[in-house]
Amino acid sequence: MKNKVLKIICETENYISGQEISEKLGISRQAVWKHINSIKKDGYRIESVSGKGYKILEKPDLCDEISVSKYLKTEKIGREYIHFDELDSTNSEIKKIAGNYSEEGLVVLTEKQMNGRGRLGKTWFSQNDKGIWMSIMVRPKLSIYEVSKITQVVAASIHEAFSEFGIDSEIKWPNDIIINDKKICGILVEMNSEENHINYVVIGIGININQKKEDFPKDIKNIASSLKIQNGKTYNRAKIVADILNNFENLYNKFTSGDFKTTRDICRNNSYVVGKEIHVIINGKRKLAIAKDITDEGELLVEYKNKDIEKLIYGEVSVRVK
Ligand code: BTN
Repeated sequence: MKNKVLKIICETENYISGQEISEKLGISRQAVWKHINSIKKDGYRIESVSGKGYKILEKPDLCDEISVSKYLKTEKIGREYIHFDELDSTNSEIKKIAGNYSEEGLVVLTEKQMNGRGRLGKTWFSQNDKGIWMSIMVRPKLSIYEVSKITQVVAASIHEAFSEFGIDSEIKWPNDIIINDKKICGILVEMNSEENHINYVVIGIGININQKKEDFPKDIKNIASSLKIQNGKTYNRAKIVADILNNFENLYNKFTSGDFKTTRDICRNNSYVVGKEIHVIINGKRKLAIAKDITDEGELLVEYKNKDIEKLIYGEVSVRVK
């Protein structure tokens, strides 16, 4: 109900009276007043003038449903949207509640993530409200062998969304977004399946947006980066969230109807690794190779020093650009 009150105030250019809101929502004026007070506590500046009503003066920089939905053009992705001030991990949270949502497209986003998880059991620094920490739940009707490609569908969506903001980025096969040789974004895809049936896939996305260098802890200060550090601008996080979801729905719909080529072309044409000398790390063992291409199936085609060619599948390997 609080969100509905907020929506009405945000959508009204001028003053709106408590009476009008209470009639629209079928709640008492006392209840409206309570919700307004709680909305103010969230950081919204609302003016109340007797005889006129309420008017919004300033919104906090939040990635809540109201802020994101005004840019959202999707049919299903992000149409169920849960926003938290603080969570341990959006991937863990969405897994807990996935069973309550039969349709795909649920998004869970938190302002601060206290126990963010990265790939290969690593932690993901996200205890601040300057990035995007979110998870998307989908239920693709695909074979489990196809699921690994979703990582690239997501990477391509983020690349396309960044382009709409005039941001040049590269995709480090298969799951990192790089700007000026720095990792800005990581993707963690997790699947829940039985035999060959996928119950759901959780796509975790972490993007450093408005952090300054001093916002990062000492041990990662020199390696971590953000859009702000790279481009010197402060970004509207809610708009980036919506743009990513818009692009994701488009590429995901294509992918699940048999068109992986669009994604693959974006990943290939904007690859950070193709043409470079890389270390392929399988089970802790490093091998030097040249990244030759990304295949039609989304594998990384590499050539080792002894000229052996191999197609790498996501999940098996880690790639380090030399
Ligand atoms: C990586 O190691 O590169 C992947 C990082 C993924 C981080 C995101 S932040 C939102 C989601 N929730 C998590 O706990 N992790 C992912």
